[in-house]
Amino acid sequence: MKPIIAPSVLSADFANLQRDVTMINESQADWFHVDIMDGVFVPNISFGLPVCAAINKHAKKPLDVHLMIVQPEKYIEAFKEAGAAYISVHAEACTHLHRVIQQIHAAGCKAGVAINPHTPVNVLENVLNDIDLVCIMSVNPGFGGQQFITRTYEKIKQLNKMREEAKANFLIEIDGGVSDKNAKQLLDLGANVLVAGNFVFNSKDPQATIASLKSLG
Ligand code: DX5
Ligand code: ZN
Repeated sequence: MKPIIAPSVLSADFANLQRDVTMINESQADWFHVDIMDGVFVPNISFGLPVCAAINKHAKKPLDVHLMIVQPEKYIEAFKEAGAAYISVHAEACTHLHRVIQQIHAAGCKAGVAINPHTPVNVLENVLNDIDLVCIMSVNPGFGGQQFITRTYEKIKQLNKMREEAKANFLIEIDGGVSDKNAKQLLDLGANVLVAGNFVFNSKDPQATIASLKSLG
């Protein structure tokens, strides 16, 4: 199966956002990965609801919204209104993770759960059949352009096995430091969605870079 490619808008030129959204529309990318950071859950602030809605106005592909915020349950319906197709919340930010997953589905979105590099995949054990996506963070969230953490390979392997054993259908997404150096291996181990920020936007020809990722798998 061809991988799903989700360029991360975090690495776009925010003063030329429409241009970069159009570039993704006209590329082989499948989704827009939209990183929301609150300066509390992660040590950086990106952008919020109005920018997400502005991207959605021009985007011709689904928005994959990654909430790196505390108390994400307060904003699920608002992000649905701002155009989210997928909403991922961090397991570390949710005391009642199962309830938040239900809330995302009730809002009419696909539900994802993201886990930080230090969080073992087995925290997902009791929600495997309730979710549509797991986002394995392969960098500590907060910034684009960081180095890929190689321990991620083992986590994909473990999660893929759990998925098979549970006969679950969620997609495995890898977020952080994805490039031509690791993409093939990630897919071979069971990843389905590749997020790429720096590797796409800081390449000479972003559309060709997206096409090269898409051709793997
Ligand atoms: C990191 C974000 C990522 C980031 C990926 O906190 O969640 O989505 O934009 O960027 P790269 O691909 O540059 O590591
Ligand atoms: Zn992200």
